[in-house]
Amino acid sequence: MQTALLQLLLLALAPVFVLAETGIDAWLRYAPYPGAEKHAAALPHKIYALNATKSSPVYTAGTELALGLKSIFGLAAAVEYQQTLDYSSSSEGGCLGRKSHLVVGTLDAFDAAEHKVKVPELIEDGYFLDITPKRTLILAKNERGALYGAFEYLNRLAQGNVKSASFASNPDAAVRWVNQWDNMASGGTHGSIERGYGGVSMFFWNGVVREDLDRVHQYARILASVGINGIILNNVNANATLFDDINLRGLQRIGDIFRPYGIRIGLSVRFDAPQSYGGLSTFDPIDASVIKWWHDITDKIYHMIPDFVGYLSKASSEGQPGPLTYNRTLADGANLFARTLKPYGGTMMFRAFVYDHRSLNQTLDWKADRANAAVNFFEGLDSKFDDNVVIQIKYGPIDFQVREPVSPLFAHLRETPAAVELQVSQEYLGQQMHVVYMAPMWKELLDFDLRIDSKPSQLRDVVSGKRWGRHQGGYAAVVNAGLNSTWLGSHLSLSNLYAYGKLAWDPSHTSEDLIDAWTRLTFSHDRAVVDTVRTISMQSWPAYEDYSGNLGVQTLADILNGHYGPNPGSQDGNPWGQWTRADGDSIGMDRTVSNGTGFAGQYPPEVAAMYEKVETTPDNLLLWFHHVPYTQRLKSGLTVIQHFYDAHYRGAAVAQTFVTAWEKLKGKVDATQYDETLSRLVYQAGHSLVWRDSVSNFYFNKSSIADTRGRVGNYKYRVEAEDMQLSGYVKYQVKPFESASKGWAIVTASNTTTGTASYKLDKVESGRYDVAVNYFDMAIGNSTWTLSLDGAVVGKWKGDLEYSSGKAATIYIDGQTAIRKTFRGVQVKKGAEVKIVGVADGKEPAPVDYISILPLGTAD
Ligand code: GCU
Repeated sequence: MQTALLQLLLLALAPVFVLAETGIDAWLRYAPYPGAEKHAAALPHKIYALNATKSSPVYTAGTELALGLKSIFGLAAAVEYQQTLDYSSSSEGGCLGRKSHLVVGTLDAFDAAEHKVKVPELIEDGYFLDITPKRTLILAKNERGALYGAFEYLNRLAQGNVKSASFASNPDAAVRWVNQWDNMASGGTHGSIERGYGGVSMFFWNGVVREDLDRVHQYARILASVGINGIILNNVNANATLFDDINLRGLQRIGDIFRPYGIRIGLSVRFDAPQSYGGLSTFDPIDASVIKWWHDITDKIYHMIPDFVGYLSKASSEGQPGPLTYNRTLADGANLFARTLKPYGGTMMFRAFVYDHRSLNQTLDWKADRANAAVNFFEGLDSKFDDNVVIQIKYGPIDFQVREPVSPLFAHLRETPAAVELQVSQEYLGQQMHVVYMAPMWKELLDFDLRIDSKPSQLRDVVSGKRWGRHQGGYAAVVNAGLNSTWLGSHLSLSNLYAYGKLAWDPSHTSEDLIDAWTRLTFSHDRAVVDTVRTISMQSWPAYEDYSGNLGVQTLADILNGHYGPNPGSQDGNPWGQWTRADGDSIGMDRTVSNGTGFAGQYPPEVAAMYEKVETTPDNLLLWFHHVPYTQRLKSGLTVIQHFYDAHYRGAAVAQTFVTAWEKLKGKVDATQYDETLSRLVYQAGHSLVWRDSVSNFYFNKSSIADTRGRVGNYKYRVEAEDMQLSGYVKYQVKPFESASKGWAIVTASNTTTGTASYKLDKVESGRYDVAVNYFDMAIGNSTWTLSLDGAVVGKWKGDLEYSSGKAATIYIDGQTAIRKTFRGVQVKKGAEVKIVGVADGKEPAPVDYISILPLGTAD
């Protein structure tokens, strides 16, 4: 037996203080739950972590287990870090007494035969958990797996599950990565994050890697706890200055931080770096000098970061340079990197998001279709990629829309492993200002059966490689966590990161189980809290789809500016290819083979046949595949246009219920988390009405078909600001018209003017009402508004949402800046004077759209 006792860690017992929850610990709070301390006696009092090297994941596991036991149960378990299990060398001289102990380590370090333990079959990263009152074993094939097992054990304990169990868990997919779209920044500023809504970069500052990487430590811990094994740094629209020596040294520090968590770092690379950064005359992927340049840089990286995971490339897309510049194939481009990485066991992740946004012409060409691009570009290349290339494919053929069919490219790659690209960052999905729990959407996508060769071919089995009898490929998610203490900008959004990691490990988890577990870990075990968060979360994606883009028409967000608020008209008339082809009579992309762009034919025959016909296309993708009249009947019996109206009213109504449901949790969740979440849900409730009205009015205007239920265009509780008595305020015609009620708003006459708008409440009976003001909060000033009734102030507020929300900052008076402020239960007298005073600030002219005096609990 070896004597390998290297360190003994005893955590002193200390009282547990209740601190405000900022969200920074995510689901790893290890909060004590009522009665937890009772279990302490039966839990491990001693932890044997079978690696004494601090940078090893097994060492991390030991520390984490001690932390969890202490924090949840008040149990100070001693940790012994040993190279191989040696009870006799322990401070207890081999006598374990009656107290329970835990062993965590690799199978190599734990001699299962000697200890008479039968371990089920494990693959890389998998683990075996054997929990008994006397001894708990956490064993794995590799170090990373042991850490995953430790996190799983703690996950159970933190949810109150102290039962015995014995099971093995192997990851469904080998690749479980996250992508960080962080920019390097310059001029003394923080790195921003492309499509990041949770603050600035935790990695970069002023063009270099930050000195203080404390948050990166915490991020690594969070990611490892859900099984993430790779992180790609810097924006896919990459910056080659990462190769500066100072940055390579910085990346080395980042790699050192992730290593103890079993996470390997990689880089997004700029295809033309040999020329734009290296000074060569070309970046042609088959040019010898270019090949040498990449080899040299890769050698240098591996010298500094030996476990570097590889490169990610966005090439020949959206203006990014790529192999197509030189008429080389995408395989030429991918293999260039793959060959430099190969000697080191690195992976080349090549993105399939390849299209030319300048060459699409909608008006002239009925057959033009951005959705066709990926399959067209990759056609014939399947056998041409080196064996360490993985193709990273966005889940849908366009771009992170609220509903897309599974990308058909997944069915075209048989020899080349694929990874599905998901987006935890809610780019087209409310940018963390709207709660959208994405697990149900991901589940639908992953469960979709592509019927390749008429055989079961669920997306999850295609990406894990199971469909092809291999274990290669998997998952990548654009996460874009930032320095905001909630990581993503909102407490509720973090459930998406949790669900992503868990589904990448095991796509058979249910969305409900995931949200329940996450809620217990994040907020509380309280039944009301768990039920409420589940209800809100499970309703959130359908509600968002209802008010943002129905029947597969895509998210009708402003695609030219921000990708956030409603702007249905922005989809068409430009070469970005997110078209709806809406005209006065009809709407939708004809993607049939018989008459349209032919996209439906890119699927295997059974799926292609389903999408080819209106009758067999599911309603929720009708407009993705077909161009139909607004009067087309759906399977539900409604017409397309009436479905639009109904869905928008339904979705916005559901969003109102999130507020009241959450309010019932006051006192049951931490006050900071409660308040911050409530303010976002209130915002969402208001903005869902902006969505509802914008989209409904846009299509009412286009189609001239009225809502059979008389709602669209009729708002009986509203008084339009432009109809009020104005002084210092002037009327302003909003563009696009549907962003403001009746197309008009008011703005102060100048940037320094104070405006007053007033009217008499002659049509309202005295009583208590909810009073709502719809206005615009632009990111170019902090105007102040004061609402009063007969001279008594009801409320005063500032337009400073840009500081508290992470959504794309926008400067126009439109659907992105439109917002509602509601005062509930206000005593109103018939004939009273309603007055709103707006004080402009900066370039924000205190814009107001309308005021609603609403019966209590009504939202309109
Ligand atoms: C979207 C997104 C871009 C991003 C691109 C990509 O289009 O809006 O910001 O660069 O996707 O995935 O490459």
